[in-house]
Amino acid sequence: MSMTAASATVGSLYFPRSRIKGCSFQPRMTVRSVSSQQKSTVTTSVDEILTNLQKQCATPLPVLRHVADSMANDMRAGLAFDGGSDLKMILSYVDSLPTGNEKGLFYALDLGGTNFRVMRVQLGGIDQRVIATEAEQVSIPQELMFGTSEELFDFIASGLAKFAEKESGKYHLLEGTKRELGFTFSFPVKQTSIDSGILMKWTKGFAVSGTPGKDVVACLNEAMKRLGLDMQVSALVNDAVGTLAGAKYWDNDVMVAVILGTGTNACYVERMDAIPKQPTQTAHSGTTIINTEWGAFSTGLPLTEFDKQMDAESINPGEQIFEKTISGMYLGEIVRRVILRMAEAGSLFGNSIPEKLQTPFSIGTPHICAMQQDTSNSLDTVGSILFNEAGVESKTGARQIVMEVCDTISKRGGRLAGAGIVGILQKMEEDTKGLIFGKRTVVAMDGGLYENYPQYKNYLHNSVTEILGQKLSENIVIEHSKDGSGIGAALLAAANSKYKHTF
Ligand code: BGC
Repeated sequence: MSMTAASATVGSLYFPRSRIKGCSFQPRMTVRSVSSQQKSTVTTSVDEILTNLQKQCATPLPVLRHVADSMANDMRAGLAFDGGSDLKMILSYVDSLPTGNEKGLFYALDLGGTNFRVMRVQLGGIDQRVIATEAEQVSIPQELMFGTSEELFDFIASGLAKFAEKESGKYHLLEGTKRELGFTFSFPVKQTSIDSGILMKWTKGFAVSGTPGKDVVACLNEAMKRLGLDMQVSALVNDAVGTLAGAKYWDNDVMVAVILGTGTNACYVERMDAIPKQPTQTAHSGTTIINTEWGAFSTGLPLTEFDKQMDAESINPGEQIFEKTISGMYLGEIVRRVILRMAEAGSLFGNSIPEKLQTPFSIGTPHICAMQQDTSNSLDTVGSILFNEAGVESKTGARQIVMEVCDTISKRGGRLAGAGIVGILQKMEEDTKGLIFGKRTVVAMDGGLYENYPQYKNYLHNSVTEILGQKLSENIVIEHSKDGSGIGAALLAAANSKYKHTF
């Protein structure tokens, strides 16, 4: 894949600089210069910072194993009772997975980052499967991410209404039914049924007032009602859950889904009798999907002072530590913090520290990804990204160091994400004795970070193979899910339709 600074967008993991406006990261606005005493220690300081960083970010096999084991333990603790661990282990109430027989027109709405996506899908049953789909993406004005709940949901409902108006003749509702919607809402929600759930907290830089503690389906329904849009939500799903449902529709061996984009999460198929905190809930299939909300995991992670500072200055300090270490919203920012320190302590770029380099999130994960694709001798892409995004002039030596910093941070992220996946597989294997490692098991992946960052993806795959060993890992297929969560949500709306269907 060739990428230039200009084309450096890594799908949904892009976090525009302007979005920091209303959040509590306070950019320092002065251009500072490096003192002569600091200058004399140039090389030692930069080398020391790099060496320390590499040591602290190292993920040798014992660290990976510890993370995988802790993930499995924390999963069990979270299943035992609410609050049992950092992992919320949320019941999705998805126990009717799509079978392939679903028929009719269904809508999907996906809200989880800087954009929301609307989609319509015509399902044709077991022979025809997905007959037609149409989708549109609308970007969310940044002020709405810090506004009121009503403003946000009114904006979303009006986007949905405009899209629904454009429905053409090739889409047909089943007779006597109303339009049904699968609502993918990619934030921690305590589900109360398949079509209701309370927002526990916002993540990924959202800070909309009035939604936490409320049923997000009711918020959407009220907004649709205000607009006179005649549609009903049949399924509320997390993006990881939608991805799992969508991928399982095509391949029954899918047991786990992982999102690696702006934020991160994982879900998996769990047996009802392995969920002590919900003894009364039943599912005719005997299984359900658990949304782990693994972004909140924190046990045994190799963290640096840069991670800790970024966390302390974030809008949710102490929360989402795994997410802050491995996901697209944060990797570029960690790199920026490291190279800022190198510039201050070791004059990495000469005398001055430009304002841009001091501005939180001025370097995004798409930029560090683009820098890592640079194979030219003088690292021209690295140079132009550093100039355009951070305002620094750089020599080849400094660019090489920046490349190493990018590699250190993406390597740690990819390898820890791999360890998290092994943790989930281990937990499932321990309970089912051979049903995971003893046969083909698919992990469906989605999100811009996984899809568009080749080094990150390789580190993730290698880490899984390293922990499991060649033989066990042969049965584990980690693959990009081609449909993402959109079709999954529409399928779940169909599988959980309010109408009695014969499918
Ligand atoms: C949210 C999850 C979501 C993930 C990926 C996290 O910040 O808490 O609910 O699935 O991002 O979008």
